[in-house]
Amino acid sequence: MLNGIGQGGDHLGENAWQDVPGEYRANLRRIIVTQGDTEPASVEQQRHLGLTCPSQYDLRNLFQVNVEEGRHLWAMVYLLHKYFGRDGREEGEALLERRSGQEDNPRILQAFNEQTPDWLSFFMFTYFTDRDGKFQLCALAESSFDPLARTTKFMLTEEAHHMFVGESGISRVIQRTCAAMNELKTLVITMLHQYRLA
Ligand SMILES: [Fe+2]
Ligand SMILES: [Fe+2]
Repeated sequence: MLNGIGQGGDHLGENAWQDVPGEYRANLRRIIVTQGDTEPASVEQQRHLGLTCPSQYDLRNLFQVNVEEGRHLWAMVYLLHKYFGRDGREEGEALLERRSGQEDNPRILQAFNEQTPDWLSFFMFTYFTDRDGKFQLCALAESSFDPLARTTKFMLTEEAHHMFVGESGISRVIQRTCAAMNELKTLVITMLHQYRLA
């Protein structure tokens, strides 16, 4: 944040807002609710993976990702409660009621209603979906609404670790697959299943 100066768009160079201007209230509320909704959704998608973790190291990473996503929800709800009055409190309640994949009350974005059935899906999720999230947060970090810009800046430092979990997970899977293919001298990946090597 450039010391309380609006960083982009129509309000570049003006003082950043410490409160929500009336004309942007609806838009800002929708943006914060949508961002907030993704955070607990990914925990709902991933929490069962603790039952099938490949190692203690992976379990720790999973829990760290889940705890931080939970904190991101808290950060968004704090903004809703502090700056959006009764509307904000109602949105906060609705965030607690929606559930990933639930037919009658699903999460807002479709990617957060899909299943994450195994660890490969989790690594893909943290590689691609968290990367997408990073760009959303980068945009919010330039908001002229100062409290939003400041909180998303901090969230970005945690997203970097989530992407590391995805990237290192995928490279370990590829490395082990290649090693197993070498051991069996085969290019047929389905063979690996048969021998339970990957
Ligand atoms: Fe997050
Ligand atoms: Fe994340």
